[in-house]
Amino acid sequence: MKNSHKNLFLFLIFFSCCLSVFSQSNTKNREHISIDKNWQFAFGHPFDTAKDFGTGTGYFSYLAKTTYGDGASATDFDDRSWRKLDLPHDWAVEQGFSEKASYSHGFKNIGRPFPETSIGWYRKKINIPEADLGRRIHIAFDGVFRNSNVWFNGHYLGNNPSGYLGFEYDVTDYINYGGQNTIAVRVDAMMEEGWFYEGAGIYRHVWINKTNALHVPADGTFVTSKITKNTAQLTSKVSVINEGTKTQNFKIVQTVLDATGKPIATATIDNLNLRPMETKEFEAELTVANPNLWSVNTPYLHKMVTNIYSGTALTDTQTTTFGIRSLRFDANEGFFLNGKHIKIKGTNNHQDHAGVGAAMPDGLQDFRISTLKSFGSNAYRCSHNPPTPELLDACDRLGMLVIDETRSMGITNTQLGELKRMMLRDRNHPSIISWSIANEEWGVEGNIIGARMARTMQDYAKTIDTTRGITAGISGNWDNGIATAVDVVGYNYIKHGGKETTDKHHREFPNLASWGTEEGSTFATRGIYFEDNQKMYKPAYDMPQSPNAHSIEQGWKHYDSRAYLGGMFIWTGFDYRGEPTPYVWPATGSYFGMLDQCGFYKDDAWYLKSWWGSEPVLHLLPHWNWKGKENQPIDVWAYSNCDAVELFQNKKSLGKKTMEKNGHLEWKVNYQAGTLEAIGYKNGKKFLTETIKTTSDAVTIGLQSNTKTIQANATDIAIMTVDTKDKSGLFVPTSENEVSFTISGPAKIIGVGNGKPTSVEPDQFLETITVVPISNLKEKIVNSIAEATETDDNLDISNWDNAFKDSRDTIFAKKVKAIIYRAHFDLPENFNQAKINFSYNPIGKSQSIYINGKQIANNIPENKNGDSFILDKANLRAGKNSIVIVAEPLTYKYSWNPVNTSPGTIQLIAAAPICKRTLFSGLAQVILQSTGEAGEIVLTATSNGLKKGEIKINATKP
Ligand code: GAL
Repeated sequence: MKNSHKNLFLFLIFFSCCLSVFSQSNTKNREHISIDKNWQFAFGHPFDTAKDFGTGTGYFSYLAKTTYGDGASATDFDDRSWRKLDLPHDWAVEQGFSEKASYSHGFKNIGRPFPETSIGWYRKKINIPEADLGRRIHIAFDGVFRNSNVWFNGHYLGNNPSGYLGFEYDVTDYINYGGQNTIAVRVDAMMEEGWFYEGAGIYRHVWINKTNALHVPADGTFVTSKITKNTAQLTSKVSVINEGTKTQNFKIVQTVLDATGKPIATATIDNLNLRPMETKEFEAELTVANPNLWSVNTPYLHKMVTNIYSGTALTDTQTTTFGIRSLRFDANEGFFLNGKHIKIKGTNNHQDHAGVGAAMPDGLQDFRISTLKSFGSNAYRCSHNPPTPELLDACDRLGMLVIDETRSMGITNTQLGELKRMMLRDRNHPSIISWSIANEEWGVEGNIIGARMARTMQDYAKTIDTTRGITAGISGNWDNGIATAVDVVGYNYIKHGGKETTDKHHREFPNLASWGTEEGSTFATRGIYFEDNQKMYKPAYDMPQSPNAHSIEQGWKHYDSRAYLGGMFIWTGFDYRGEPTPYVWPATGSYFGMLDQCGFYKDDAWYLKSWWGSEPVLHLLPHWNWKGKENQPIDVWAYSNCDAVELFQNKKSLGKKTMEKNGHLEWKVNYQAGTLEAIGYKNGKKFLTETIKTTSDAVTIGLQSNTKTIQANATDIAIMTVDTKDKSGLFVPTSENEVSFTISGPAKIIGVGNGKPTSVEPDQFLETITVVPISNLKEKIVNSIAEATETDDNLDISNWDNAFKDSRDTIFAKKVKAIIYRAHFDLPENFNQAKINFSYNPIGKSQSIYINGKQIANNIPENKNGDSFILDKANLRAGKNSIVIVAEPLTYKYSWNPVNTSPGTIQLIAAAPICKRTLFSGLAQVILQSTGEAGEIVLTATSNGLKKGEIKINATKP
């Protein structure tokens, strides 16, 4: 065989082996199953046990005995009157606002003053097939805010305090194979972890992971690369655990796939064995020739497929996405990616968005990262906590460098444990270039304690990953504390360094790399150009927040002009809820963003696009609608990367000015309605034109979508921009119309916003569920069911006994053949507007049920799952309603197996109000989400006196 043919033949064999391996990987050796859909939700209570469903009140409760989850943690708890919802879910964003709520959490009504809305319960039933017996099954939560307790079939699984880390529990032994299983989660959002909006509830995804006994445990792979001239030397570490009962002999086969899925390198580690419950880490070296490198502009991703074979049987396939790239921080020259210098142009961001709060659909991560990239940003600091995994996936996919930050600083198992969990979870993301161990720890950052702690955390972090720089955000005292101990010093605000700023520190510590982990913190309200402290608006010109602070431009000039500085992270990319500095209630959101909470550009984003981006930019501010300010001077600024800009008002030149690098241009213009035109020059030639015009009143509503199609998968989203246009079709920048939205087709509106920092309008429009108790249950023993006549609506029962006074033992069973129960429930005045469900739990072996004297069930048998009835409103009334149950009594054999004594609950479901939002500085945002089916989606927007807007998009199946 000729050599080339031989190679081809070998390749084909190799390729077909891989193909069969990869098709097998979709078989049962590992499954990662989303369980986000169909949860039941209700508020519990921090100290009123009755309102917390009596959980933890049993003589023997869940801490005393396994399976003894009681109250809402019990397997058979009746949750039918709870609300149905899908995850991710943030109940904080659903609440109203009030002054007594927390400044940090955007004045949403949760936290200590709001015990009724600060404990949330989630329950879900899942089926696990018989065939899964013998596999290991874990339930994995990506993040729950916060302090969650979890039960599985009444077994207490554990507590997870921090809202920012994922956690998983092995439930293998607790499972009812071939039947139903119950997950219960109690979430306690009374306390805050940060000083910014954090949401509440199961706000990230939940999964069931199924593997064979011999498998790669969670976060058990780590791929790193060393790049030499034309090759990449990969080190692939894999942990394997044997959770079976016998010693296992096995081999590991690692295969690198390129972005098209083609295998490009492989390695086998043979003759391995693990005793039962033993875990070990194994390491393989692989070489990739002429590798495609991951970078900001070409975010090329590889996959490592790890196959575990026990004999010839494939027992596990774990796929790890990674990137081949190198990075280096240099104390004098800044940051290098793949050997090339890159100036960091970063933003800090929290993890909430308009409309949806912390419960972000995955599509929003892409939207947010793309929006940051659109003005030239290349880096993202996850301030001040580990983000959701999908954020990091988006950064990997789109090319965004990341600082990943742990929430709390410290050196005990608590904080080092969290640092470790973050690093293990995230270490394969090529986007992450640095681990941050702290932010502005004022108590220690400038002293020896802080220096020691930073050293310990850094040394500890290096035992997990040596490939990235360790940093911390430090707000001064750089000569003494944390800033003397970390790989990459993070300056939070150059003003904290006094006159000599970062230069002095660099002189004194010439071997430490450094960058600006925070700079800016400027105040700007989108579309507002005059300060208005009444309305709590700050003008959107780039100004320092105080005399010794820096504007975005001053900050960038500092970082751009010093080679030793790696670059800077602006505080912040997006506005966020909470921290409405410098204002207080009713300001609810921050003013720091380059973008507002919806992601609409403030003018600052145009400044950055001029100097960070690669496209030509010419942007003018403010808008030109200043009725009432005729002949008064208005500051007109131009953001541009042209060499010079000439400004014209109504065709008259106001002068041509030369642009300085990283600068902007200013004119004072006496206002007259009409046109402002700017001409940008490059190399002496006209290059760009920008025109802004005074508009007339709004006449139509405009709707634009970020996409024409979404996937019909019940998760994909479309982001709609709402505005108004005048009669000439010009965008009206001052509109504040209230706009109502209706939707038809396979999508729902999941949130609305407008970027107004003082907004206290609702973000979401939901059905309201009220649960009405059935109270005052009385009983009367009768001779037989047939003789029971006490079913009338009005009956004096003052001499009846309280129900279940006597235990339902065998003596009772012999004596009593029929019993009548009577109780009542109270309906509010407006009960007619709601749908009314009765979730009945049997209190008889067989029974007939009467509401206000009218029979709704005749002689129905005991149904352990309960029966549900939609009640006829014509037969109901505001105030007291009677309920009568004529039953053959339930009895028990053993006292530890008592009978049900609660007939259930009445649930009132009031329809969601109409979804609406006012425009702010001319704009609003509506987020739509697929409901799963394919078809045309039509969003309609109406507002008094305006022509309605309509937009159509399609939901398509792949
Ligand atoms: C910093 C802090 C940020 C944010 C910012 C507001 O001190 O690290 O989280 O609070 O101030 O200016």
